Amino acid sequence: MDSIFVRGGKQLHGQIPIAGAKNACLALMPATLLSDEPLTLTGAPRLSDIRTMTELLQSLGAEVTSLQEGQVLAMSSHGRIETRADYDIVRKMRASNLVLGPLLAREGHAEVSLPGGCAIGARPMDIHTDGLARMGAEIELKDGYLHAKAQGGKLKGAVIDFPFASVGATENIMMAATLAKGTTVINNAAREPEIVDLATCLRAMGAQIDGDGTSTIKVQGVDRLKGATHRVVTDRIELGTYMLAPAICGGEVELLGGRIDLLAAFCEKLDAAGIAVTETDMGLKVARKNGRIRAVDVTTEPFPGFPTDLQAQMMALLCTAEGTSRLEETIFENRFMHAPELIRMGADIDVHGGTATVTGVERLKGAPVMATDLRASVSLILAGLAAEGETRVARVYHLDRGYEHVVTKLSGVGADIERIKGQ
Ligand code: EPZ
Repeated sequence: MDSIFVRGGKQLHGQIPIAGAKNACLALMPATLLSDEPLTLTGAPRLSDIRTMTELLQSLGAEVTSLQEGQVLAMSSHGRIETRADYDIVRKMRASNLVLGPLLAREGHAEVSLPGGCAIGARPMDIHTDGLARMGAEIELKDGYLHAKAQGGKLKGAVIDFPFASVGATENIMMAATLAKGTTVINNAAREPEIVDLATCLRAMGAQIDGDGTSTIKVQGVDRLKGATHRVVTDRIELGTYMLAPAICGGEVELLGGRIDLLAAFCEKLDAAGIAVTETDMGLKVARKNGRIRAVDVTTEPFPGFPTDLQAQMMALLCTAEGTSRLEETIFENRFMHAPELIRMGADIDVHGGTATVTGVERLKGAPVMATDLRASVSLILAGLAAEGETRVARVYHLDRGYEHVVTKLSGVGADIERIKGQ
């Protein structure tokens, strides 16, 4: 397993290109199952999660060809499609469950393994399965697999009220509804930009979808969908992560492709903490306003609220802020695993249930730390950029899931960072 070594204290200057969104791409790829014509995605990120989804779709019989070093995914599922998503692949990545809706819509039945445990929470699928049941699917859990069957071989439109604005469930139901008989309405739908990106792609394929980006999404089922070419939306979580780099250690960095509308709530918190975000022709420029970062309170919420996927990174910033910050994690039940690692670096953090109280210290100290999940691992890198001395982050395979070329991007703006194999 590789480790990343960071020697802190350098100010950062220059530009960082932001890739296509992992969480959009992971929902867009299964859409190929909805049509027997080619679906091509451009601006795709080069990540291990994308390779896992590729492996899963290929195991189902879809063709997925990675072009231009992984930035273009040419997909087609014109032949016979298998309907069993195997545990060995699904357990590697929860987003594998996004083939359930498309398989049911295309074939009328599917066997999809439950993803199994995840570091940040139990992550059940009840909202997905209850919604599909409302559309006429009979779903039974057997040997760890969801066995789903559309009554009469075809899903039918339904009005579905989500108890929680689940991103994945919104994506699964929206894809399933494109080929259902009749109209589907999702109330309390997720509003994330990745949902809008998926709906945009599905409309290009001939789907009839309205209301994406709002809490009520309406889908009028059609007989078939055609092929399309779609550019993956910018990754707002990678964007927010790298915006925190100059914030945490000083300097000024321009994030190429960055868009404020993807991160309004996050940018409001940065402003309150004393960080200037300026829109430029190429994206967003970020620098400290002056002096020390100020403490702010953060509560994670579904979009358009503060994103849970930036909570760990924001905590790293607030470890050296002036004053005490309270971070409330309302989306996942176990998403503070970065806290004990930050405490090893001298942070003053008190975790009680879903709330972490962070009292700023003058400076963190480099230390050997352990990555536990994707976003926690990058928060430790950010902390290392500002810490005194060397920080070694072990188990960086977590990073590879969601951040392409993190060492190249940060060393490109002056960070003293390197990845050492097998350490
Ligand atoms: C998506 O996960 C993202 N993943 C997550 O990003 C992100 O943190 C999450 O949305 C919230 O924004 C992808 O898009 C691939 P949810 P998803 O369904 O769809 C509970 C990252 O770091 N829930 O909105 O799984 C669930 O347990 C990853 O890139 C149910 O109870 O999130 C969780 O507590 C991590 N029943 C909450 O809702 C269900 O049927 C949010 O889940 C579904 C979800």
